[in-house]
Amino acid sequence: MYVCLCNAVTDKAIRKAVRQHNPHTMKQLRDLVPIGSDCGKCIRQARQIMVEERAAI
Ligand code: FES
Repeated sequence: MYVCLCNAVTDKAIRKAVRQHNPHTMKQLRDLVPIGSDCGKCIRQARQIMVEERAAI
């Protein structure tokens, strides 16, 4: 499923980045995957996915 349509970033890509690099902040996540750099509508969902995935590590 696409989370960020502007940059074609999927939930799988976000989950993979979180598992590999364990980002603690949205800035750290955004350094890993190009989310939220255009319209910003994906930020809330991306944060939720990061929180979920960090809890599962
Ligand atoms: Fe992510 Fe627009 S959907 S920046």
